[in-house]
Amino acid sequence: MGIRLGNIFILLALFGTFIVSGSCALEPKIDKRLSKTLERVGYANILVSMKDGTRDILNELAGKSFSSRTERSQALYNALTARATHSQSHTLNWLEEPAILKSFNYGKFYSLWITNQIAIEFASRELIETLALMNEISRIQEDEIEELVHPVDSHSTNAESIQVVNQWGVTEIRAPQVWASDTRGAGITIASIDTGVRPTHVILSANYVNDTHSWYDPYDESEVAHDRNGHGTHTVGTVLGRNGFGVAPEAKWIACKGLSDTGSGTTTNLIRCGQFLVCPTTFNGTDPDCSKTPHVVCNSWGGASGRTVYDEMIEAWHVAGIIPVVSAGNSGPRCSSVGTPGDRDVISVGSTTSDNTRSSFSSVGPTSFNTMKPDVSAPGSTIMSADHRFDNTYSIKSGTSMAAPHVVGAVALLLSKNPDLTYVQIKHLLQSYADRDLDPEGYNCDFISDNAFPNHHLGYGRINIGRSMAALN
Ligand SMILES: *[C@@H]1O[C@H](CO)[C@@H](O)[C@H](O)[C@H]1NC(C)=O
Ligand SMILES: *[C@@H]1O[C@H](CO)[C@@H](O)[C@H](O)[C@H]1NC(C)=O
Repeated sequence: MGIRLGNIFILLALFGTFIVSGSCALEPKIDKRLSKTLERVGYANILVSMKDGTRDILNELAGKSFSSRTERSQALYNALTARATHSQSHTLNWLEEPAILKSFNYGKFYSLWITNQIAIEFASRELIETLALMNEISRIQEDEIEELVHPVDSHSTNAESIQVVNQWGVTEIRAPQVWASDTRGAGITIASIDTGVRPTHVILSANYVNDTHSWYDPYDESEVAHDRNGHGTHTVGTVLGRNGFGVAPEAKWIACKGLSDTGSGTTTNLIRCGQFLVCPTTFNGTDPDCSKTPHVVCNSWGGASGRTVYDEMIEAWHVAGIIPVVSAGNSGPRCSSVGTPGDRDVISVGSTTSDNTRSSFSSVGPTSFNTMKPDVSAPGSTIMSADHRFDNTYSIKSGTSMAAPHVVGAVALLLSKNPDLTYVQIKHLLQSYADRDLDPEGYNCDFISDNAFPNHHLGYGRINIGRSMAALN
């Protein structure tokens, strides 16, 4: 302690304004927000990061070539699970000891391999402070709660005999033009991380992979796919629903229930969904099969901006060849309102209306990492899609949650045409051929006007999959 204080005094002398707060050796490992929660309630659900991390593995595998997607996800899975076992076994064994459980009294705990973390429920301050003393642990943070990007409006059409027409968003991004050349998403699997999906809905049932590895529910490990909220069913309908509802009507889907029935999800369960995507498992998390890795994932959820908590998961998806598409958020038109993970290394999607403007709610950049987001925009206002209550009813919702699925469908179409396209190539194809004939609102963020493209309001513009696809030929 004497030496530490000595250092602080030197810093004080150098910088004058340096503030010494709780100069305890444990502080740097325990996240500030977590410390505040502990002060308030004395315990928290936590994520414990191991010092070894995953960075070197991700860097090494990202630069390697593999003969197939399966080989790549398998290599990633093998390396990350071996790393997690190696760096976590001491802590996990310790947590399993009855005497330790008795003296610290905590809830369930999970080993997370994709991020090399241990999640612990109801961890007391004493437990957290003891963990912080362990050499192999680098950081302890609070398990946060994310929300589905709440639809701004939502109503049921109650329509059982909807006319089979192409929905306006599907038409607006020129999907029918792509279908006309026989590209409809065949061969591509999309994943949904949301409130679940009603698998029997008439526009979705034929596209459900529906094998033993196409559904995971980290909350209840339920056996059968379901959706008691409606958000997930609606979004998947826009990605690939039949009868003109979806962008890629021949793509297949799998789903992970990262958000509970109320629409909120814990970081831990969202990360468990992230693991499921790399090598899908059975309903109870067993028998991972790396030949079933999906190609693209729809994330219509998020939370406060400026966080890095999903970075390791997102980077693992990139290495596995899973394209992450994320809603920008519904906190616009205020500048710097794009939520996490929409402000990270993903295709971040803003929302447009059928009147060719930005949807008023659509979140706006720049991010606190000084990047321009959203990357692109897509239709998100007044979108009709599958309803979760019956197999043949529909509902209308508005939000960037509805915009991201249009982009997921567009990615599926591109990959269906050319499965070798990379994340960078796909993002480039979507951005370079986006439509910019959108009415500006006269807003500025970070000295960039919304009538100059790219901008912080609409990114590179509203995607036009017809033009992106034509550029591929
Ligand atoms: C999925 O497969 C199961 C078992 O074969 C079947 O009973 C069920 O109806 C299928 N679900 C859908 C949505 O097709
Ligand atoms: C998972 O489910 C399978 C199939 O029902 C069962 O055989 C197996 O014992 C379960 N495993 C665990 C760890 O619950």
